[in-house]
Amino acid sequence: MDHAIAFQDYEASALAAIAAAKSAAEIEEVRIEFLGKKKGRLKDLQAVVGQVSADLRPAVGKLFNEVRDKVTAALEAQQALLRKPKKSLTAIDISLPGQPVLLGKRHPLAQTMEDFKDIIGRFGFIVADGPEIEDEYHNFKALNIPEDHPARDPLENFYLATASYAAGGPVTPRLLRSQTSTVQIRVMEKQQPPIRIVSLGRVYRPDTIDATHSCMFHQMEGLMVGEHVTMAQLKTVLRLFATTYLGQDVTIRFRPSFFPFTEPSVEVDMSWGKDWLEIGGAGMIDPNVLRAVGYDPEKVSGFAFGLGIERFCMRRHQIRDIRRFYENDLRFLSQF
Ligand code: DAH
Repeated sequence: MDHAIAFQDYEASALAAIAAAKSAAEIEEVRIEFLGKKKGRLKDLQAVVGQVSADLRPAVGKLFNEVRDKVTAALEAQQALLRKPKKSLTAIDISLPGQPVLLGKRHPLAQTMEDFKDIIGRFGFIVADGPEIEDEYHNFKALNIPEDHPARDPLENFYLATASYAAGGPVTPRLLRSQTSTVQIRVMEKQQPPIRIVSLGRVYRPDTIDATHSCMFHQMEGLMVGEHVTMAQLKTVLRLFATTYLGQDVTIRFRPSFFPFTEPSVEVDMSWGKDWLEIGGAGMIDPNVLRAVGYDPEKVSGFAFGLGIERFCMRRHQIRDIRRFYENDLRFLSQF
């Protein structure tokens, strides 16, 4: 047979068969017939190439390759087309329930802080904010914490290698605040009494992490300054706050203690029966602190408190390990 006719015949019938194939099985049959490696029409065509004279063989071989590639491409295109699922309106069952939209939730600590602001707001305390990166003045000095106090030990704090070192400028060490008491100073620097604020946020300490300790946790700081602010008011505010959040069966105890920025100072514990749990510190603002912000301790007095937010939240929800809060495990978080 004339090789040109053989090529034309092969190509035309292959392309027609490919176009006519309507299923994966049919296109597979076409593939075997026209492109099969062992036998079939391609093998026959190869035999035709073998029969032409030696001088024509290079040109005919090239033609063979072209025709084979063209048929292969057409076959692959049809295979792809047959694999695609058919779009059809009847394929949608509109009576099926829709995909539920997954709604996020607030983190249990964020919820607790909202509750705290809500409750303490009823006593007239408004929310103030302060930076988490602090200088030593606001974290220690203005709070009457002397240079040699153990709380200022670099090993007890997260000091930062800040830009002021790098620039060779005046060295103003900065640290991640170790307490929210810093916000007391920042507020009093800007405002005159009467003051009634709370500040909620993160604090950082390089504690060894275990079920009750974390190197980052949250506090709520409270501050009230005015002409006749008393310890009795402090105790009332804390007692009412705790019973509103945790229930009437909680008992609050004030234990004498010491903080450089309060005098007298108390440690606040709470209990439901027998065990006592420490929840924070409080006291009457030390005159040195009032003087540091330019207030006259003869004219105004004030109280302050700092509460651990995780402790309250753990107690309320019977959470036994503080680390659960920070692991982002949805099995835990979705319970709140
Ligand atoms: N800042 C203290 C701490 O982190 C807690 C504290 C104690 C805050 C007494 C106060 C206070 O405002 O008056 O341990």
